[in-house]
Amino acid sequence: MVKVSISDCARERARDIDIEDLFNRARAAQKRAYAPYSNFRVGAALLVDSGEIITGGNVENGSYGLTICAERSAVVRAVAEGHRDFTAIAVAGDTDRAHTLPPCGACLQVLAEFDSENPLVVIFPDGGLLRIACVSELLPISFHLRND
Ligand code: THU
Repeated sequence: MVKVSISDCARERARDIDIEDLFNRARAAQKRAYAPYSNFRVGAALLVDSGEIITGGNVENGSYGLTICAERSAVVRAVAEGHRDFTAIAVAGDTDRAHTLPPCGACLQVLAEFDSENPLVVIFPDGGLLRIACVSELLPISFHLRND
């Protein structure tokens, strides 16, 4: 059993999530990441409202700035497969090199795009435990373009 720390915001939604299973799926995806430049492989597992889990890994590029993070690769893959309603995303990486591994700012902005009244929950390693929080807590002010 892993130790978890759950924020009040995430508590209700987290009740229906198999945290350990989702994190294990992120760990498995981490192994498939393509990170020959940083050697820092990251995996993400995105739980969609239908119950399906879509995974992604970081995909680096020799033109470094073109690198895509694991979280965004999972989101892009999920949307391409027809999903837009997301329950939670778990992130796994090498915690010896990054003690705390929340989605980066760019990934949080992308996750905020798909946040709704049902808060999108983020599960990430923080020290020796798994932190469970809402996207809106990690990125309290996000950019949203009006659609009119
Ligand atoms: N990385 C992710 O995939 N997700 C994050 O949230 C942080 C960073 C990747 C990008 C890059 O390939 C490697 O980690 C080192 O920065």
